[in-house]
Amino acid sequence: MKIEIYDTPDLLAEAAASLWIKLSRQAIARKGCFFVSLSGGSTPRRLFTLLAQEPFRSEINWQQCYIFFGDERCVPHDHAESNYRMARETLLDKVDAPHVFPIPTNDVNEANIRQYASTLIGEMGQPPVFDLVFLGLGADGHTASLFPGTGAINITDREVLAVYVEKMNSWRISLSLPVINHARNVAFLVEGEGKADIVKEIIQDKPGVYPAEKIQPDGELLWCLDKAAAEKLK
Ligand code: 6PG
Repeated sequence: MKIEIYDTPDLLAEAAASLWIKLSRQAIARKGCFFVSLSGGSTPRRLFTLLAQEPFRSEINWQQCYIFFGDERCVPHDHAESNYRMARETLLDKVDAPHVFPIPTNDVNEANIRQYASTLIGEMGQPPVFDLVFLGLGADGHTASLFPGTGAINITDREVLAVYVEKMNSWRISLSLPVINHARNVAFLVEGEGKADIVKEIIQDKPGVYPAEKIQPDGELLWCLDKAAAEKLK
């Protein structure tokens, strides 16, 4: 595990953009494609905005990037809460990326879950192995939509799962823990003082109770933090 701490959220986003450039170049040189999973929520907005601008934009071979989503809220793709909508507005509508695979959310049903799983397998093979999975971190220790108290973290016999999040009164669709842990690289992007407590618990205290603690990829695990989120780390 590697921890990188940046003075500001902008510097954190620049580091994440440089990681995309580095890993995509390596993957495309090796196998002609780069499989990446985008995180949701608000943190990645800065990263996506940067990736759509120079100098980062033209450093990336968008034609060979295969862009998936780590999780999605079960709302229409044009809904304000949609992770896909946020990624489109900040990045995907601004670059020529022909291989983008949003999670189907017209309904929370087995068919949509199986469909996304077969998309993953169809594009990446079995098991699907991402070159890079971006993850966010909730103050409750969730990541993707693997929320505590839902049992989602323990579902290991499928690639994609649906989870009802009581406290949000909403359904989510998420990659499962095994798919994330098969990744060659997993990068948490975490910013803000509101995450300082959970970051300390997960990275330092390790109580073994949070879903994010189970992210232990076969490949590299990188924590990209801004100073505020890293505030309580020794
Ligand atoms: C989502 C995410 C979720 C997110 C964390 C952090 O759909 O909300 O995938 O796991 O990454 O909740 O969210 P913020 O970046 O908004 O703090």
